[in-house]
Amino acid sequence: MYNSKIIGLGKYVPENVVTNDDLSKLMDTNDAWIQERTGIKERRWIPEGSEDTSAVMGAKAARIAIERAGLTKDDIDFIVFATLSPDYYFPGCGVQIQDMLDMKTVGALDVRNQCSGFLYAISVADQFIKTGMYKNILVIGAEYHSNGLDKTTRGRGVTVIFGDGAGACVLTREEDTSKGILSTHLHSEGKYADKLIVASPSIAHWVPEILEAGEEDTSYFPYMDGTFVFKNAVVRFSEVIVEGLMKNGLQKEEIDMLIPHQANLRIAQFIQKKFGLTDDQVFNNIMKYGNTTAASVIIALTEAWEEGKIKPGDNVVLAAFGSGFTWGSAIIKWC
Ligand code: UT7
Repeated sequence: MYNSKIIGLGKYVPENVVTNDDLSKLMDTNDAWIQERTGIKERRWIPEGSEDTSAVMGAKAARIAIERAGLTKDDIDFIVFATLSPDYYFPGCGVQIQDMLDMKTVGALDVRNQCSGFLYAISVADQFIKTGMYKNILVIGAEYHSNGLDKTTRGRGVTVIFGDGAGACVLTREEDTSKGILSTHLHSEGKYADKLIVASPSIAHWVPEILEAGEEDTSYFPYMDGTFVFKNAVVRFSEVIVEGLMKNGLQKEEIDMLIPHQANLRIAQFIQKKFGLTDDQVFNNIMKYGNTTAASVIIALTEAWEEGKIKPGDNVVLAAFGSGFTWGSAIIKWC
């Protein structure tokens, strides 16, 4: 058995900055509410006419990650792509990456686990590397939310939170099993699927029915029971971090860097307090990007690394919670 380690990180966000004040021109909201309840100051939204999509942004982030890994696209043995906003209903974005990067006919897997998508994606990649089946795996998280949001007052509880962007990393084989990804932990609780959902179009409720229902039917916009999701998030985040620490015989004092999914700054602050971590031990960038779902942890990890906040030997903890419900963590000995 091997371990896997991250050897290249990349991110791409659209240049178009949308501030809270910009949103208040579209709907009844304001900067004070958004900052106080979520911590978000601005987010990136793909502008009209741009060629960016989840796959295109993912490809941009992937090229950076592969180059920083010191590899070429021909060294990649497998692709895992996490998104809830794929370019097509099918096929998935993974195969688009194989084409866009002009790669060999390697396997490409799409992961649909929303805010926990990146955690699920690196966990899958980690297993393939552990068994020796693949050596280098490209893992991408990318989201194009902005075109699918209700930009009226009706949708303000959800729309102000989400942003567009992509992150990518390359995982490779590590012979020393005391380094790299030490463990991953995944969970789900499907009875709460309807608490954070885009219900249609689904095969059971296809486009003609939506069109026929007219404005009454808002099932193609994201719905979230924010308070319920918040309450579950703080509990599950904590649980899954503790699970990861216990598995590796680590104490909370030994966490060097926690990268939480960027769902709400208040959630991250709650976790920080609960684990007794300092501001330097928790990385947040929700202020700049909002919630980019499957892209959020990998964008944050990339920025933390770019800013020199992660060094070899550090215990890095990744954790996420979101729609499904799904949640997960990864414990990494950075190397
Ligand atoms: O990434 C997946 C996981 N997601 C999460 O973990 C998100 C968890 N939930 C949250 O972050 C928070 O619940 C929200 C930020 C979504 C909402 O914050 P909240 O403190 O739970 O507010 P609320 O939904 O209870 O709404 C409070 C009030 C309501 O008005 P009334 O009924 O008190 O008069 C809302 O209508 O705020 C109103 N409101 C807004 N006002 C201005 C809701 N959205 C907005 C808005 N601007 N954008």
